[in-house]
Amino acid sequence: MATTAMPARQRTLRRDLWWIEPALIFILFTVFVLYSVYAGLANANYYSDPYLSPFYSPCITANCAHLTLGVPIIGAWWNLAPAIWIVGFPLTFRLTCYYYRKAYYRAFFWSPAACTVPDARAKYSGETKVPFIWQNIHRYSWYPAVLLVFILSYDAILAFRFPTASGGHAFGIGLGTVLMVVNVVLIALYTFSCHFCRYLVGGRLDRFWGRPLSLRLWRLVSLLNVRHGIYALTSLVSIGVTELYIRLLAMGVLSDPRIVFGG
Ligand code: FES
Repeated sequence: MATTAMPARQRTLRRDLWWIEPALIFILFTVFVLYSVYAGLANANYYSDPYLSPFYSPCITANCAHLTLGVPIIGAWWNLAPAIWIVGFPLTFRLTCYYYRKAYYRAFFWSPAACTVPDARAKYSGETKVPFIWQNIHRYSWYPAVLLVFILSYDAILAFRFPTASGGHAFGIGLGTVLMVVNVVLIALYTFSCHFCRYLVGGRLDRFWGRPLSLRLWRLVSLLNVRHGIYALTSLVSIGVTELYIRLLAMGVLSDPRIVFGG
């Protein structure tokens, strides 16, 4: 049978634009990380009543512009930005996510850059050694991520409560409200479509006999799981857009279109 030999200098026989996806992921992740470092350390302009930036939620330090629980959990040590205390949880969850691993292994390490494209490195040890063996903590990072969904939902509910001229509050809807609601819905879809969530609700069972609730949940999470990569990317964009919008409001660069009832 005739075979097609690959010329020595040709790395792949693929002729499609296979490099576009890793290139776009590279740009998106780089922009997000750079912006996150800036916004997370800024320690200002993260609250514009009634909107709290998702980067700073839950806001739990004594120097918070808007305390999530009403009382501080941590003192204002060295006036560190409140985001620093919480960023590790969502960061660990996303960094160790199976979808993100695939995306950044391809885009940043070229390990490999795409299917049927050779690995950039000669040796491949997978995730069996430090530091990549730490990717196995993903399952534990899911629990704080679920808690964060509830906290961001609470923030989204507060985003319907606008300050009035008389010093009270009134129900309303602004563009910031819409962004915060969409943001938490996308984050919830991302969190509950997680592979570990699928394992937890039913994947770990040998059979569903006598476990109708597990079967239903497993089917539901399986439906979401098919689009896990889409939720991973859209929720990332949504977090960035929501944070930037609130920041620009707080800086006075933008004004929020809103309808307030009885305000
Ligand atoms: S696999 Fe992506 S969040 Fe768990």
